[in-house]
Amino acid sequence: MRLGVCYYPEHWDESMWAEDARRMRELGIRQVRIAEFAWSRIEPSPGQYAWGWLDRAVEAIAAAGLEVVMCTPTATPPKWLIDAHPGILAVGADGRTRAFGSRRHYDFSSPEYFKAAGEIARQVAQRYGKHPAVTSWQIDNEFGCHLTVLSYSKHAVTRFREWLAQRYGSVEALNQAWGTVFWSMEYRSFDEIDAPIGTVTEALPAHRLDYRRFASDEVVRFNRMQVEIVRAHSPGRQVVHNFMQLFSEFDHYKVAADLDAATWDSYPLGGLEEAWFDADTKARWLRTGHPDYASFNHDLYRGMSKNPFWVMEQQPGPVNWAHWNPAPLPGMVRTWSWEAFAHGAGTVSYFRWRQVPFAQEQMHAGLNTPDNRLDIGGAEARQVAEEIGKLPESVAQPRSTVALVFDYASKWLFDIHPQGIDFNYMRFAFEYYSALRSLGLDVDIISKDAPLDGYRLIVVPSLAVVDDAFVSRIAKSGAQVVFGPRTGSKTDSLAIPANLPVGPLASLLPLRVWRVESMRPNATLPIDYHGRGGTARHWREFIDLPADASVLSSYPDGGAAVLRHRNCVYLASIFDDQTTRAILRDAATAAGVPTEMLEEGVRVSRRAGLTFVFNYGETTYALPAGATVVFGDAQVAPRQVTVFRAANGDAAHVRDARAALAS
Ligand code: GAL
Repeated sequence: MRLGVCYYPEHWDESMWAEDARRMRELGIRQVRIAEFAWSRIEPSPGQYAWGWLDRAVEAIAAAGLEVVMCTPTATPPKWLIDAHPGILAVGADGRTRAFGSRRHYDFSSPEYFKAAGEIARQVAQRYGKHPAVTSWQIDNEFGCHLTVLSYSKHAVTRFREWLAQRYGSVEALNQAWGTVFWSMEYRSFDEIDAPIGTVTEALPAHRLDYRRFASDEVVRFNRMQVEIVRAHSPGRQVVHNFMQLFSEFDHYKVAADLDAATWDSYPLGGLEEAWFDADTKARWLRTGHPDYASFNHDLYRGMSKNPFWVMEQQPGPVNWAHWNPAPLPGMVRTWSWEAFAHGAGTVSYFRWRQVPFAQEQMHAGLNTPDNRLDIGGAEARQVAEEIGKLPESVAQPRSTVALVFDYASKWLFDIHPQGIDFNYMRFAFEYYSALRSLGLDVDIISKDAPLDGYRLIVVPSLAVVDDAFVSRIAKSGAQVVFGPRTGSKTDSLAIPANLPVGPLASLLPLRVWRVESMRPNATLPIDYHGRGGTARHWREFIDLPADASVLSSYPDGGAAVLRHRNCVYLASIFDDQTTRAILRDAATAAGVPTEMLEEGVRVSRRAGLTFVFNYGETTYALPAGATVVFGDAQVAPRQVTVFRAANGDAAHVRDARAALAS
């Protein structure tokens, strides 16, 4: 467990670098990420490299005993490059070419950019690849940030056609798969196919889905090209990328497969403000972040990372980019940092060392204020560094018996075919996750293709396209499985399965969903889950079910709302939070996984015999009797974290804590 920071030597006078590095070291920082936006300083004009300043910056950092995370600067192609090759610029869904003047203006499909990005990556990797202080690499910066995965340029369309030809082999096969006969949309050759924009009404859903799959593959290809170049010049270093929070525009599992570790950028307050949460929820967690927001991302990125994941950018104070930008309450920067470590992070790196007084992000906090005084976040980072010293050098990764299957393609599919404007896959997946966490459970978030061994409870929020391989792995897992609505509802080419939903899953869970309806937010249906009441929201399915299924809850007209068949539970709606929690609690109990009803805002995580308690709530939380505190207080005050070893060692569980509280 170590701390890092993001630093921009090119933003500051050179006379400050050595002192900055010294103060970083003194604060407890161990690694410094640099140069991800520095292309115009590295190569001020075509082929003219100005290495001197970067050499000296690396030396200043190294001289202070710090490691360098070097970046390829490809998120910001400079003006001269754009002027020489205007085709690098991406094209938006409005058909307009993006302009130079911010960042991420490039098109993943531009052949000129592919070449230029490879060349600058090679130059930087050659220069610093074997430098002893350079211990890892970041490729580019936040693929897709500012919604830049999809481009509709002529380069993108050309590559899309090639991608389609590869996927379908013949245009007849494509016509068949897409259902182009529907409105006389049949094609005679791949060259006739354009990007799915500008149509009078909705473009063909399968066309849109394939465009998203294609665009995702373009990100994979672009990243892989740079990874291979950097690896060739910088043996033995970790190559990573910094993903974004709850971001789904490309298949992160596929990009992560080419990296040594997944890292992500954690901005809990900005994220909450910009996500789907209602106004009350946003106000409730305004200055702490939602208790499950960062964790969801930690557990997702841990699952796809070959080595311990990192937080590459940790929010240090107010950000500048959300609708409103509140300041975190004192204690939160520390709490967020420890939450990352509790979920398995190897590194937490703060964004940024010092608030910069100019340009787009001048209102974004750093660990230091623009006049170079340590800010609250900086002081909390120092505290984290001291506390790290109280833990053993190496702490095993978290392991869970509960898995949540998260699927990027389902997100795309339900975006394209929501059938109700508020059918939000990401939100529903998050709600199941949050319910599991509120039950005191550690959760692994995994892809549908991940091994299922060892899981006793598997939650599938929804998996739009179910294949036979997934069904047989689920069957073999022997786990209790909870499926959300719309699972198995589509084929690979976005059509309704011949046997109706749940498609191939019917061999395990013999249901036939013969009708669905979506409902306005203010038009809900009452249900009664085990005498607790409950509400079905947004979505309702009408289901034929086998005689041996048990209906756990019904709609007012008698249709099944929650049902069980052997070890599978199927949810035919999206339920209110308390009902979801009760359903998942019962499923966990059936799986033999102990749960506890944590009070609002309290969360626990376990890692190698250590239990971490995080208090996002308003009341103090007491540790169990016999707990040995590693650091923090036995009375965990709001916004605080405490790490302890339970009296019963590895089996430490909140159940003990609750019992202690009750006694
Ligand atoms: C991230 C980005 C950084 C910086 C930061 C501000 O998305 O990677 O470069 O813009 O946000 O919060």
